[in-house]
Amino acid sequence: MRIPTQAERQPHPLGVRALHWSIAGLVTLAWLVGITMEDLPRGGGREQAMSLHYSLGIVVFVLAVLRLVRPLLWPLAHPTGQSLWRVWAAQAAHWALAAITLGLPITGLLDRWARGRPVSVFGGVLLPAPMTIPGGRLWGEAHELVAIILAAMVALHIAAALWHHLALGDGTLVRMLPQRSLKHSPPRPRTGT
Ligand code: HEM
Ligand code: HEM
Repeated sequence: MRIPTQAERQPHPLGVRALHWSIAGLVTLAWLVGITMEDLPRGGGREQAMSLHYSLGIVVFVLAVLRLVRPLLWPLAHPTGQSLWRVWAAQAAHWALAAITLGLPITGLLDRWARGRPVSVFGGVLLPAPMTIPGGRLWGEAHELVAIILAAMVALHIAAALWHHLALGDGTLVRMLPQRSLKHSPPRPRTGT
């Protein structure tokens, strides 16, 4: 039995949390629009939904690039006393999630470009293909596959966060939440490391 130290209960820097939840929220929104947009009738919101999907995806791409450089400003501190395999597993899972949030918009963008269609971001910035993109439909297929892998990884990620909170009782989850929730959650004892 061990009580998490004060250091382990320190919230992640605001920038880390803001970036994490912006990406999580926008990815979820883009995903929900992605799975519904093609069922909408032509002229009945389909085009607007697709355009929203592309725009949200591009914003996710920009945030995912920021997330790549983020460790230079704010490295993610892991709770002390964790076994090495657990730290490695968490790091590998985080890198995989970060890579997928980058790869998913890229495959979507390449799908549009390979079909000769520029992408407009919220009706403002226009992103034309910088060159001829080979591969045709394959990018769309890859995009669908990566979207499924992302959903599975996010499900595992949420399960891991809940396991840390409910079974281990360490500060992993609450450190990623808004500070208000830290004040309302007293330190919980946890077993093992
Ligand atoms: C994080 C960002 C994104 C997420 C989570 C996402 C997710 C999805 C999902 C779940 C689908 C439905 C797949 C299916 O029908 O099984 C989809 C379809 C699609 N997405 Fe995305 N997407 C993202 C970004 C983008 C971007 C940036 C573009 C293009 C600029 C894009 C273009 C497309 C296209 C063209 C389809 C239809 C594919 C097809 O014709 O089969 N997506 N996306
Ligand atoms: C689309 C959804 C999500 C994505 C893409 C995502 C991605 C990530 C990534 C890449 C990290 C590594 C830290 C960073 O670079 O920011 C992380 C950390 C974390 N995420 Fe998520 N996340 C998502 C949703 C969630 C949800 C819903 C929860 C809560 C139930 C959650 C809880 C956490 C926690 C607690 C950490 C810190 C882990 C640690 O300290 O080792 N995430 N997430």
